[in-house]
Amino acid sequence: MKLNKVAIVGCGRIAGSIDDEMPAGHPCLPYCHAGGYAALASTTLVAAADIDASRRASFCKRWGVSRDYDDYRVMIEQEQPDIVSVCTGQKLHAEITIFAAEHGVKGIYCEKAMCSSMAEADAMVAVLERNGVAFNLGVNRRFTGLFMAARRMIADGELGDLKWAQFTGNDLLMHGYSHAFDAICYLLGDPPAKWIAGQVAPYSGRTTPPIHCSYDPNTNRWDRDPGGCWATIAFEGGAMGQAANPTGMPMYEWQVVGTEGVLHIRDYGEKIAWRKGDGYEKLEVPFPEYPRKSPTVGLIENLLLGMETGEPTRANARVSRAVTELCLANAESHVRGAAPVGLPLENRTLYIPSH
Ligand SMILES: NC(=O)c1ccc[n+]([C@@H]2O[C@H](COP(=O)([O-])OP(=O)(O)OC[C@H]3O[C@@H](n4cnc5c(N)ncnc54)[C@H](O)[C@@H]3O)[C@@H](O)[C@H]2O)c1
Repeated sequence: MKLNKVAIVGCGRIAGSIDDEMPAGHPCLPYCHAGGYAALASTTLVAAADIDASRRASFCKRWGVSRDYDDYRVMIEQEQPDIVSVCTGQKLHAEITIFAAEHGVKGIYCEKAMCSSMAEADAMVAVLERNGVAFNLGVNRRFTGLFMAARRMIADGELGDLKWAQFTGNDLLMHGYSHAFDAICYLLGDPPAKWIAGQVAPYSGRTTPPIHCSYDPNTNRWDRDPGGCWATIAFEGGAMGQAANPTGMPMYEWQVVGTEGVLHIRDYGEKIAWRKGDGYEKLEVPFPEYPRKSPTVGLIENLLLGMETGEPTRANARVSRAVTELCLANAESHVRGAAPVGLPLENRTLYIPSH
């Protein structure tokens, strides 16, 4: 068995400490990247980079990493890792992914959101494909037994003809709706989207009073990541998607509706309701058992498989670009008075920063 050398860029929460914030026994543990690599015999974490020396030091102490760097470029050139984890904030995801892909790295596990504009997403796809680099975005639900089983059942026709997939939840557009749109696309089988119409909320974050954010047409940039609000998406094949933040309440729920049933999932499966039947009275049926395994470990295993075989990974760059496009086009629709925006998005340089 090959032992794959891993280097991490950004030594913060998702890199090494987010597990401390989660309840013991949570089905997603280990959730942080370092924990995922530590759980696998085929990966070894050899180096870490962060511009913050104290973050670097505590990460390396906790995860037994002996070599640390303040410049991720130097780390990648000197360590020649097989895999790079991109765990900085969103605005550096494209730059680091592109540098790693151009410097011999074979697999990249990049945190969401993928990047800040479609121009960045296009550049990432081009460089990854030109260099034959496997890529997975940290959209964890794609790698849970629950969402994988749901997608399989939906593809097998258990819900009949697919009509509608909906997300309800309160989060920021790039930061959180990247998860929301991703799970909608995954459950529907990743059909291409034809158009999206919607609005975003002109505030960013959950602070009181809220921090207002706005779009500047002169720079084609938002100054902050806006609050997700609502969106309607038309997919090829006839299914519609919808995302809504009607209450501002902290909830994360998906519902898929077909001609023969309805599936409702709360977040990572805290509640699942599956009702079957084509009439008004639908029969509640138990959702089948599914494997409960850390999605982070599953994502890394899927990345390793892609590196070995060249098979497309589950959150590969093209799939992730399509989801990123929904986020950006949602904001574009807002600026155009909630008019439907055809996809692919023409405004490739529209830029939305996020943490
Ligand atoms: N998949 C998930 O569920 C999930 C959960 C949390 C965070 N995230 C994502 O992970 C990313 C990081 O979030 P976080 O909460 O861990 O943030 P964080 O602030 O805790 O960590 C980011 C780290 O990157 C470092 N950094 C900044 N510039 C750098 C540079 N040039 N080189 C090296 N390091 C640099 C910072 O010093 C910091 O230590 C975000 O994109 C976020 O959306 C995903």
